[in-house]
Amino acid sequence: MKKQDFFNLEAVEAMDRVDGRLKVTGAARYSAEFPIPKLTYGVLATSTIASGKIQSLDTKKAERAPGVLAVISHFNAPKIPGYSEGSNPAKGATTKGQPLRIFSDDIIMFYGQPIALVVADTLERAQFAAGQISAQYQKADFQTDFDGNVSHADYPAQAKNRNSTGDYVRGEVDAYKKAPVKIEAEYVIPTEVHNPMELQSIIAVWDAADKVTVYDKTQSLKGAQGTIAQAFKIPAENVQVVATYVGGAFGNALRTWPHEIAAVMAAQKVGRPVKLVVNREQMFTMVGYRPYTWQKVSLGATADGKLVGISHEVIGQTSAYEEFTEGTVNVSKFLYACPNVNTSYKILPLNVSTPTWMRGPGEASGAFALDCAMDELAYQLNLDPIELRLRNHADIDPERNLPWSSKYLKECYQEAAQRIGWFKRNPKPRSMQSEDGMLVGYGMGTGSFSAGRSAATASIQMSADGTYTIQCATTDIGPGTATAMVQIASDVLQVPADKIKFQLGNSSFPKAPSQGGSSTVSTVGSAVTAVCVSLKQKLAALAAGQGESAAVKPADLVFENGKISSKDQSINISYTDVLKKHSLPSLDATEESRAGAERQKYSFYSFSVHFVEVHVHPATGQVRVKRVVSCADAGKIINQKTAGSQVIGGAIGGIGMALMEEAIMDNRFGRYVNNNFADYHVPVHADIPHIDAVFIDKKDPYINPMGSKGVGEISLIGMAAAVANAVFHATGKRVRDLPITPDKLI
Ligand code: MOS
Repeated sequence: MKKQDFFNLEAVEAMDRVDGRLKVTGAARYSAEFPIPKLTYGVLATSTIASGKIQSLDTKKAERAPGVLAVISHFNAPKIPGYSEGSNPAKGATTKGQPLRIFSDDIIMFYGQPIALVVADTLERAQFAAGQISAQYQKADFQTDFDGNVSHADYPAQAKNRNSTGDYVRGEVDAYKKAPVKIEAEYVIPTEVHNPMELQSIIAVWDAADKVTVYDKTQSLKGAQGTIAQAFKIPAENVQVVATYVGGAFGNALRTWPHEIAAVMAAQKVGRPVKLVVNREQMFTMVGYRPYTWQKVSLGATADGKLVGISHEVIGQTSAYEEFTEGTVNVSKFLYACPNVNTSYKILPLNVSTPTWMRGPGEASGAFALDCAMDELAYQLNLDPIELRLRNHADIDPERNLPWSSKYLKECYQEAAQRIGWFKRNPKPRSMQSEDGMLVGYGMGTGSFSAGRSAATASIQMSADGTYTIQCATTDIGPGTATAMVQIASDVLQVPADKIKFQLGNSSFPKAPSQGGSSTVSTVGSAVTAVCVSLKQKLAALAAGQGESAAVKPADLVFENGKISSKDQSINISYTDVLKKHSLPSLDATEESRAGAERQKYSFYSFSVHFVEVHVHPATGQVRVKRVVSCADAGKIINQKTAGSQVIGGAIGGIGMALMEEAIMDNRFGRYVNNNFADYHVPVHADIPHIDAVFIDKKDPYINPMGSKGVGEISLIGMAAAVANAVFHATGKRVRDLPITPDKLI
């Protein structure tokens, strides 16, 4: 096959979303929207204490309420067969290290924990009945106050069980202490909640005694399939998971949560399909959040700004029943060249539900601290923050001691700095003012995230009419996966994009990993490439087999514009004519693709830089973000438009993280007081300026056939630091605890 150099993609690189019209007209069907016959509605009632036991539950009124089919609680819940497994089955939900085992015992570990599920024939009747349930508790002491409990933080048992703390040391511990210039600073990130527009939802339908279909909001079809199969002790292939569209998730649908198990259990019990939608308030306690995190970053440098030591300590919040850990310290190990690095990661269990990855996840939290500290160091050294980063640029991965597969971070600094006019600023804090009297500040931050690739399988079917259907059990939480996959297939097959359909969101399709960690284009795109190449090989074999030019080898054929030809033109035939000649109604292929030995030879990361201009009101402390330039090295960009939307969305998330987002705990009750969209602030349109999303757009030579790295996480990682650093430049005030609300600036 001649045309080896795919993925130039000029013709299609800003293609509109293949499902855009369906989404904006309401035709796209989300998990709660499937019209299932005989549907019933489940509503969860939740605990109003943070720790203790349920003494009694009065469900009589609820049971007698109109339309109610069942009230399920630990008193009457069917046993979940998979719950009997684990290290301490007798203890049920309280088994340390196990996910919450919904309705398996009377123990309450956080405020908002499900205590009962009402199933009724309408949503309103279920809601009414759920409000009729009253619980009596035996209360126990509880802790939800992170700041007041930091002394109880400890290494995760999962690390200690391996006979190690998980501490990372390169070179000498705390080498920063001996450096001529040093800074030590503590940073706090409060609990943030993913809060996608679409609520978490599931419809569970038992098709037979051992067969269930779930229309489930998930990023992981195979994850949900496996978890449900394991819980109900049925074969995985008997669990069908459908997630055709996902209305945002940001990480909170990466795992399968207790409400999903509850819906499947309830559908079995009432013998009818059950729909369960987690309401906005419950989104704060049932589907994870970014954990409250304390960090201390200490940097030591020579007088000319060479890092000699980095120390990064982290304490992250977790629940009383599971240990959640994430990569908060990762970034300090590889982002800057530094001979001595030590990191430590501890967790603090509180009476809260279990956190989970939220966009960028730990790396976004860690990058906030590291890149704010770098800014502090730059000011102490009287050095431009970009210059400090250039002097400590890591030419190879200092953690793994491997060359980067590709790295255009310097180009990102250059490009973004030019665009925002960085070099025209007066570097002195509180030195710039706008015409309307606002304090003006510029700040920057760096993002980086592992450019992953794992295994996925795709299938393709070519029809006689020249249309192509590709299937893969991936999901699309918003980045436009189907669009990018159609573009990749179009490029490899050399047929127009409108002839190709990419189907995702069904566990019966060939297997793919979760959509997470910015690796879908890399992983699934590689499988799509492989299956398209495989189809072309089949077409080539059929075409070359045509008697008149058996001398032509399939490998010498050229594919262009839906046609196969040989150099001497003895073969010149359209793909569809190949099928016609062989009387084939269709042609299929299935291929798996996975990363190979290159993973041991190179270090794969995406990089980004964010530059921000803020205006701060000198009297009220109100911060307005006036301009954003984000530049990303994410390898080859398949679609400028959808990838650009990722960058814009990430920047908005970063502005929210920097200035607004905070789930506020009332420690008297262990309850969030702002668990709604009126009080939990995310940026709205009026908060967001024009965001300039720029790509270096150069292929990574090793990662995958497309040369594409991931873009989702690096859009957010480093953004909150850029805003905080800009606020410092504007005001001369270092705010190290997010969000930077006006009260912290006056
Ligand atoms: Mo992302 S936090 O991997 O959905």
